[in-house]
Amino acid sequence: MNVLGIESSCDECAAAVVRDGKQILSNVVATQIPFHEAYNGVVPEIASRKHTEWIYAVAQEALDKAGLDPGGIDAVAATSRPGLLGSLLVGLNFAKAFAWARRLPFIAVDHMLAHLYACQLAESAESGEAPAYPFLGLLVSGGHSIICRVDDFDDITVLGTTVDDAVGEAFDKVAKHYGFGYPGGLAIDRLAQGGNPDAFRFPLPKLHKKSPPAPDHSYDLSYSGLKTAVINHLDQFRAGDSPEPRREDIAASFQKTAVEILLRSLFRAAEDSGLTTIVAGGGVAANSYLRARLAERKDLRCVFPPLALCGDNGAMIAGLGYRCIIRGDRSPLSVTASARVAAFRRPQRGGQRG
Ligand code: KG4
Ligand code: ZN
Repeated sequence: MNVLGIESSCDECAAAVVRDGKQILSNVVATQIPFHEAYNGVVPEIASRKHTEWIYAVAQEALDKAGLDPGGIDAVAATSRPGLLGSLLVGLNFAKAFAWARRLPFIAVDHMLAHLYACQLAESAESGEAPAYPFLGLLVSGGHSIICRVDDFDDITVLGTTVDDAVGEAFDKVAKHYGFGYPGGLAIDRLAQGGNPDAFRFPLPKLHKKSPPAPDHSYDLSYSGLKTAVINHLDQFRAGDSPEPRREDIAASFQKTAVEILLRSLFRAAEDSGLTTIVAGGGVAANSYLRARLAERKDLRCVFPPLALCGDNGAMIAGLGYRCIIRGDRSPLSVTASARVAAFRRPQRGGQRG
């Protein structure tokens, strides 16, 4: 079954054709980075306008690269949440119209579940073996940071999530403040390669100072303290209180602490759950320091999507959509977009599943 997957939740206008939920026939991503760069962040109005201008051509290119005409598509999937509402609506409505015109099954999918599905695609799987369920999921993007137990492609239990900023957001905001470049995560990753990660000691959050955490919040994360500390470091320098910091050292020290925050909770979740496979997804999963740190843990199998499938793409949408469709799920054409992440299950109080 060939599924056309459409993704337009943020600043990537993307379409892909995936066969049987595994084999990527085409994966076209038109990035809007040059249009948002001047603003050091995504401008929602520009994003939705660019999606509107590009979506037809991007979908056409995905069909062409797959060597198919519209008659070769068996079902259509599109991201319906979470993301920028105006952007989501463009891709979702394009996908609905395509499905309606060709009388095809249509499914609206969750962007975060799709990031987690990226490692199930054939191009992702190490030696052809996709990671088997259950495993620990590490979902790290510009809008979300989620540590979860994953029992199936759509069955996740959130063990920890950020109580304030997402990890990618912290990368983006620090990069913006220091003028490191855009998009911030990649800019910091690159700069950090030439920096000393121990040059500055930034604080780790203390989330459960007063009482032990409730079981449904034990692995929660926080990034606003780190972000503020790194940004204030520059302000101190500007006030003349500290010597001039090297950009590379700031980037490397921030990145080390940002990854440490993730790993502290992730490794505890691995120990407590007994799960030894970790599957990463989302833009921050491209981070080279995060990858290197996880590779050090020889007792854990850590699976990352290839770089092209870490950021937003249509292949993960088509892959997840296929799994839903063969199970018989369909979305009504009245389905609409939502800016918010779905309310994923939290562990029951009194303990998590082992
Ligand atoms: O998944 P994604 O492409 O879009 C969202 O769903 O948000 O993730 C984008 C995020 C941005 O915050 C970006 O700065 C971050 O991923 N990112 C990185 C790297 N590449 C992208 N963060 C750290 N290191 C990277 N190499
Ligand atoms: Zn994403």
